[in-house]
Amino acid sequence: MRCIACGATPDSAGQNFRCAACGDLLEFFFPGWTAGSPVFDPAALKALWLKRRTSRDALDQSGVWRFRELLPHIPEQHVITLREGNTPLYRLPRCARAAGVENLHAKHQGMNPTASFKDTGMTFAASSAHQGKFSWVACASTGNTSASMAAYAARGNMHSLVLIPEGKISWGKLSQALDYGALTCQLRTDFDGCVRILNDLVRQKPVCLLNSVNPYRIEGQKTAAIELMEQLAWEPPDHIIVPGGNLGNSSAIGKALLEMRELKLISRLPKLSIIQAQGANPFYRSVREFGGKKLEPMTADTLATAIRIGSPASWKKALRVLQATGGEVEQVTEVEIAVAKAEIGADGIGCEPASAVTLAGLKKLRRSGFVKPGEAVVLILTGHLLKDPDFTIKFHRGDLFAGTPEETEAVQAKHLQRAPLALDADLGAVIAILDAAEKNS
Ligand code: F0G
Repeated sequence: MRCIACGATPDSAGQNFRCAACGDLLEFFFPGWTAGSPVFDPAALKALWLKRRTSRDALDQSGVWRFRELLPHIPEQHVITLREGNTPLYRLPRCARAAGVENLHAKHQGMNPTASFKDTGMTFAASSAHQGKFSWVACASTGNTSASMAAYAARGNMHSLVLIPEGKISWGKLSQALDYGALTCQLRTDFDGCVRILNDLVRQKPVCLLNSVNPYRIEGQKTAAIELMEQLAWEPPDHIIVPGGNLGNSSAIGKALLEMRELKLISRLPKLSIIQAQGANPFYRSVREFGGKKLEPMTADTLATAIRIGSPASWKKALRVLQATGGEVEQVTEVEIAVAKAEIGADGIGCEPASAVTLAGLKKLRRSGFVKPGEAVVLILTGHLLKDPDFTIKFHRGDLFAGTPEETEAVQAKHLQRAPLALDADLGAVIAILDAAEKNS
């Protein structure tokens, strides 16, 4: 491991996974990697990974462990896997038209075992906690990390402690943590407040911190980008667009892209762009207002509760990959998020609100000319539609923005709303509705 700021290379990380010398984040680096070495022959690696897709071995069946040559070593007896990864890449024809691009795909990380992208990092970090003989793991979360951690802890016979902001996470995510057996604490604060308590806790108790400051999480999450390149026959798209919350995911995908290029698995870099909700935009402001020189924490607010984060831990890592790949940072409004989410749904795919910032951001990047109509674009959808059904139902009933400052702007979403119809149990009534719908279609 190496510190991203001062370059110190500690043999092991402390409980908070921060550099003992300067307090910044740690990352894995691989000094032995050189392109052209027999171990890293690109063609041989690609063939090996493809061959594993037909294997009956649990590690090979995981879309994370299948790529273990590009990850730190963890002995097999410690591996906790739910066969995560292996997520589909979908074409989005209607969304492409809405955004004004010809070639648009979504890599749906919501199709993981606990229905979010967190599983790819969690399998790896939970396995490392198991290797470290921890009996407790813990995280602060806006919901998805806690659901994922609780599942992997249960599978690995470890106890899990979840700190979540009271009333600020969706029921779907909370119910997962409960069912998977986590000790769940709803703290009267926001996500950033939960992080502060957790950081103090790990100094006093022997629990393994499984937030994305844990560099094992980042390593596992790299595999989404590796798998994506394999699905595209190792022909990189022009753009990859990700939501930005705590900024671990963008850091991981960017790290994977840079490493794949170093190992000559790909010949050029896609531009990695990061989209934030306007009400939770500290990274956007850091880049646009301060040239990335500092990040001012803020009180965050957005209906996309997964990314309701005011002080993102991995902002320096994300900045580095943004600059290295030539990506852009954008912010989108609440209504833009809701519209984009319904459009992704209308393509038969669906996602949770935080994932939809990617399409909303793409539209802005198209309008600004950063994305050209003929360029190939991949959106990373981070969570499943069913994670937050409340948002979806309120949107379709027209309740989401009722009585809020966004009410006027929300008129543009009307054509996407499909409120359920309450009818008598009468055939004639249903046929009349069907006929009317046919006439309008
Ligand atoms: N999308 C979803 C669905 C998320 O749950 C998160 C983060 C993000 C995007 C942002 O990813 O933090 O790596 O930039 N959720 C965390 C959690 C914070 O606790 O579940 P990021």
